[in-house]
Amino acid sequence: MLKCENISKIYNDNSWFSKKESIKVLENISFHLKQGRSMGFAGRNGAGKSTLMRIILGLEKATEGSVLFMEKNIHGLKYNELKKIYKDMQVVFQDPQSSMNHQYTVYDVIKEPVENYYSYAKDEMKNIVLKLLSAVRLSEDKLYKNIMHLSGGEQQRVAVARALSVQPKLLILDEALSSLDMIIQAEIIKLLEELKEKYKLSYLVISHDIRIILKLCDDIIFLENGIIKDKFSIEQGINNPSESFKNMMIV
Ligand SMILES: Nc1ncnc2c1ncn2[C@@H]1O[C@H](COP(=O)(O)OP(=O)(O)OP(=O)(O)O)[C@@H](O)[C@H]1O
Ligand SMILES: [Mg+2]
Repeated sequence: MLKCENISKIYNDNSWFSKKESIKVLENISFHLKQGRSMGFAGRNGAGKSTLMRIILGLEKATEGSVLFMEKNIHGLKYNELKKIYKDMQVVFQDPQSSMNHQYTVYDVIKEPVENYYSYAKDEMKNIVLKLLSAVRLSEDKLYKNIMHLSGGEQQRVAVARALSVQPKLLILDEALSSLDMIIQAEIIKLLEELKEKYKLSYLVISHDIRIILKLCDDIIFLENGIIKDKFSIEQGINNPSESFKNMMIV
């Protein structure tokens, strides 16, 4: 489903006060993901995790290397072709503020991507959105509320519902559950586990909370300063833990 080959990323720092001309934030990252499998990404702040996800999503270009998603090279695609890809690949970022229009109602935000790919009658669409709201444990009375009048955790749940609304094959979660309280977080993890089982949905999960990665993923990549320091299956990690796995468990 996803093949990342030798991805490197260099940012040129042109700011007045910087001596550095360029910084390498990713170096030679390669991994493959089969449909139905899920990969966790761990690593300290600034390790390059979000940059890698933006490259996979085609939001940024890699300096070197390639991303193939369902046999298509993401970086050769025009906007219209990328839009088709986003039917199968969705993302939820840590900060819902950046991805949703705050003037919109919950209903508008969730139905927007659905309308891009399907045509449903009004009543049908409302039912779909209500089902998604219930799946992320938001009550019906939130349907016509403006996004800006929701709490951060509620906004994040709307972002999860929106991402699931088009029934993607791959869902990228970049610290997507960290602002949720423990009970809601556990419920959404359970929902994601069910979807994984039922529809062979794959996840790329970035989280500083190792429990979320253990719950949702089959394999894990440990990034350090833009380099893959370690890569192992969760089973292998538990049965024969490497240093990086032990460190993560301590944290
Ligand atoms: N547009 C940019 N220009 C210059 N440097 C950047 C840019 N975007 C990211 N960086 C740098 O790249 C490095 C990796 O950032 P990235 O956001 O990918 O880290 P991360 O692993 O997601 O960290 P965190 O856990 O804090 O979210 C950081 O040092 C960051 O400052
Ligand atoms: Mg990040």
